Amino acid sequence: MASLTLLVNDQKRTVDVAPETPLLWVLRDTLGLTGTKFGCGMSLCGACTVLLDGDAVRSCQTPVKDAVGHRITTIEGLAAGGSPLQAAWVEEEVPQCGYCQSGQIMSAAALLTRTPDPTDAQIDAAMDGVLCRCGTYQRIRRAIHRAARAKGGAR
Ligand code: FES
Ligand code: FES
Repeated sequence: MASLTLLVNDQKRTVDVAPETPLLWVLRDTLGLTGTKFGCGMSLCGACTVLLDGDAVRSCQTPVKDAVGHRITTIEGLAAGGSPLQAAWVEEEVPQCGYCQSGQIMSAAALLTRTPDPTDAQIDAAMDGVLCRCGTYQRIRRAIHRAARAKGGAR
């Protein structure tokens, strides 16, 4: 066990955990941030995606010690900031069962930070590997375009 200080959604949080514990379990079990989902635990589905300094990472494969000193953003942090992505998700009625959607939105957030007005091909490339068993991919694409327009993109 070790005492680690994390910066989660702009708040300092100190946790006593084994340093190799996946960030996913620290977020969910230690900090109670259950918006980040467990899907495969093997970096195959993207359900556990969070942002580390704005980049999308799979928290099931990120030891918590690697997140120390970095800015961690979860879906709860994005919601607190009033993200245009979440508004767009609602407008486009994207979710079906909803299980994958936290990971989808966090991946889209990373994309729009780097590429404010992405093409369909750029969306497909960025979202590749974030799996949706319900097949909401077309609505996800429309919602990302909608959020890009809301943020001032031209498309
Ligand atoms: S739970 Fe992390 S990629 Fe599937
Ligand atoms: S909405 Fe059901 S898995 Fe994506």
